[in-house]
Amino acid sequence: MALYTTKLYIILYKIHPKTLFVGQILQYLPSCQSTNDEASVLIAQIDPNEGLVVITDNQTAGRGQRGNQWEAKAGENLTFSLILKPGFLMATEQFWLNIAVSLGIYDALQPLVGPSLRIKWPNDIYVGNQKLGGILIENTLHGYSIAWSVVGIGLNVNQIDFGYSTATSLQALAPLPNTYDLPGLLSRLCETLEQRYLQLLAGQRDTLKINYLQILYRFQQEHRFESEGQSFRGTIIGIDPHGRLAIQVNGQIRYFAFKEVSFDIEGRS
Ligand code: BTN
Repeated sequence: MALYTTKLYIILYKIHPKTLFVGQILQYLPSCQSTNDEASVLIAQIDPNEGLVVITDNQTAGRGQRGNQWEAKAGENLTFSLILKPGFLMATEQFWLNIAVSLGIYDALQPLVGPSLRIKWPNDIYVGNQKLGGILIENTLHGYSIAWSVVGIGLNVNQIDFGYSTATSLQALAPLPNTYDLPGLLSRLCETLEQRYLQLLAGQRDTLKINYLQILYRFQQEHRFESEGQSFRGTIIGIDPHGRLAIQVNGQIRYFAFKEVSFDIEGRS
């Protein structure tokens, strides 16, 4: 007699977000290597509609920032990619999309998690010193502007055990008796992501930047950082127009691009 030990994790993503375009078309894959890769294939092959979301229950080779892997237990989390066409953004303005997307995720999660939710520069979703979610945005340029963006989002939702202490989930932070409804959460995320994207499209950059800094992890607090093998104490005082992190060190302001600086051990992702 065959012994079936496979866990059931079939979730049918039928959502009806109150949006103009984000999530109106959903491509659901029970399993795939990476939703970002699947979205890139769609862009190369079919000129998909803006707002199309590719989602899977079981991402087998999820990719993270800095060449890291993104691991998520099948059927317990959200792993999806949103296709955007931000032709209004110059290649040098990519960071604005990071801001809008981070805030979109923040808006959906804050009512569930509460005031301790933060965005860790450039775009990790944090509670305390633990990571709740991550974003991997991959852009295709056309001349000086961004033709396509694949916005990959991984959120730890119902998974409880991670094997390492730096990750957390909604269910670990704010447990629900019957776990979180993944399609319901996805639908809400489509709405908040679209709102922030439309804010960006409308040129409301000042508001976006103010909102981003208000919830930035370790903003205006002195902490230890590391750059080029050197450890130093400094205070995050803002971001520049290219999205570089501005840190005040010994009375001087130093600017760091992504990968040029890391947070100290307690804050490492
Ligand atoms: C990070 O924090 O390192 C970014 C993680 C991004 C993970 C998501 S899951 C959906 C999408 N597909 C991928 O392969 N990666 C992103």
